[in-house]
Amino acid sequence: MSKLEKALEKAKQTRDTGTDADTVVSGRPAPAGPVCLDPDYVHTRICKLDEASMQKEGLLSPYCHPVIMEQFNLVKSKLIDRMNPDGYRSLLVASPKQDDGKTLTAVNLAISLTRDKTRTVMLIDTDFRRPSVTGYFGIEDGRGLYDHLSESVPLSELLINPGIPRLTILPAGTIKDHPADFLSGPAMHSFVTEVKKRYTDRFIIFDSPPLLAFSDGFELSSYVDGVLMVIRSQKTTSEDLKHALEILKGRRIFGTILNRVSKNGLPIKDYKKYYK
Ligand SMILES: Nc1ncnc2c1ncn2[C@@H]1O[C@H](COP(=O)(O)OP(=O)(O)OP(=O)(O)O)[C@@H](O)[C@H]1O
Ligand SMILES: [Mg+2]
Repeated sequence: MSKLEKALEKAKQTRDTGTDADTVVSGRPAPAGPVCLDPDYVHTRICKLDEASMQKEGLLSPYCHPVIMEQFNLVKSKLIDRMNPDGYRSLLVASPKQDDGKTLTAVNLAISLTRDKTRTVMLIDTDFRRPSVTGYFGIEDGRGLYDHLSESVPLSELLINPGIPRLTILPAGTIKDHPADFLSGPAMHSFVTEVKKRYTDRFIIFDSPPLLAFSDGFELSSYVDGVLMVIRSQKTTSEDLKHALEILKGRRIFGTILNRVSKNGLPIKDYKKYYK
């Protein structure tokens, strides 16, 4: 094979797997110390950030309540503290039942992680039962992971940057049938292996369906370094939580988040009155 043919072949492989092709960091020499990442998205589809939708959906933004921002800062810091020493980079956001707040937590955590300019995040919608990650960003549903697994659609055609620097989304895609079979199958296995190998520095967050309703959450937990468990205030019972933790027995739990605490339960109510 000539040099040109080899180069073309390499470019084709890169394109087909979506690897390297997703983001290209500007070609400046890397300075010493933490590197601020501001990737140029070459192949990733870039969507315009819909700030009105972000606000409506309760996403972290300059307009959200500062206490919520601070709570996510705390969650992020504690999580990094737990993950960094061991080089962990992937996590599953799970909860016992539906509507506990998994997706909103996964999305806000992803946004929070990207606010430090040294970090890039990939948020993967592995909830094939009720996909909703793109909806939170006001992006229409389209092809995604399911299409990659079932029809080998290249990742480079599926990844989306929702207008937030350093954040890449992989939507769930057009789900046909037997989602659980896909999650435990060889295609999913090689997808996860490839993504982890290719993006060693990137935080990878998986969203999931309720643990008590489907086996998907358990399947997905085998691909990640650990699980973040969401508990819904005033709704998740201790029995639900016990059952969910039994399902995940043997898996690493990074921590739990108590979601939907009432306003009266917030640590500081009149934040703006006392602090800058
Ligand atoms: N902390 C919160 N405060 C207010 N509303 C919230 C909060 N967390 C979640 N919600 C709302 O609750 C609903 C369900 O949230 P979300 O989609 O995150 O749940 P889920 O656990 O992912 O549900 P499913 O199991 O169906 O995927 C959404 O309308 C979301 O906006
Ligand atoms: Mg969800």
